[in-house]
Amino acid sequence: MAQLIDGKKISKQIKDELKEEVQRLGEIGKNACLAVVQVGNDPASSVYVNNKKKACAYIGIGSKSYELPEATTEEELVALVEDLNADETVNGILVQLPLPAHIDADRIIRTISPDKDVDGFHPVSVGRLWIGEKGFLSCTPAGIIQLLKRSGIAIEGKECVVIGRSNIVGKPMAALLLRENGTVTVAHSRTKDLKEVAKRADILIVAIGKKKFITAEYVKEGAVVIDVGMHRDENNHLCGDVDFEDVEPHTSAITPVPGGVGPMTIAMLMDNCVETMRTQEERS
Ligand code: GUN
Repeated sequence: MAQLIDGKKISKQIKDELKEEVQRLGEIGKNACLAVVQVGNDPASSVYVNNKKKACAYIGIGSKSYELPEATTEEELVALVEDLNADETVNGILVQLPLPAHIDADRIIRTISPDKDVDGFHPVSVGRLWIGEKGFLSCTPAGIIQLLKRSGIAIEGKECVVIGRSNIVGKPMAALLLRENGTVTVAHSRTKDLKEVAKRADILIVAIGKKKFITAEYVKEGAVVIDVGMHRDENNHLCGDVDFEDVEPHTSAITPVPGGVGPMTIAMLMDNCVETMRTQEERS
């Protein structure tokens, strides 16, 4: 039987550790506040944004909410982010993606001060990650590293294959696995012989965005499989990029969907918010 990697339990552990730390920092006058910006009312984004605000409340971090209409212009959003950059009561800024098509998301990400970039999406944060400097880490990949470490799965020396090369998951995932001394391959939709490449993996991270795409044929016997996907199957049940029933018997450990990677993203966002408080502590 494969070890089921319990993201719900591990994310709760992390949030509880952060709650204690926030309390300790609060006692010495350090506080944090996250500004959460949503443009338009995409229902999925509203769920994510609400969950982020709830996590702040649970941990004891303040949050300010900016719900802007769909018709908000790029200039108006840039102006808001600049105001939040200058606002000393705001430590972290999160602009929920996707943004409406008339707004250039890259410009908005670049406008967020790297000191408040709790999503870890700013080119400065990305550069720091790749050269091994301290900085904000992209939340989903950082959460996957925590899932592995807290499940007793060593990364050092392992063949790690990441399927997917997005700026939010695939690329930062590769950087983080490399930093943990994994041997890293990034595969993607144009990779030749994807099955053969995936089968090399001791640790297979799947962020391909295709429902139940990864079957047992892609998985080496005894591999660890981490599924970043989130979809609805033909019965309207949540499922991932991995065909769990087919793959699970061949793995040594696997994440379920839901309850695997999903809950970790918010836990690591909270860790980045607390990091802004730790930095205040170091500076004082
Ligand atoms: N949309 C989907 N995931 C994320 C995320 O991690 N951060 C932001 N800002 N938007 C998202």
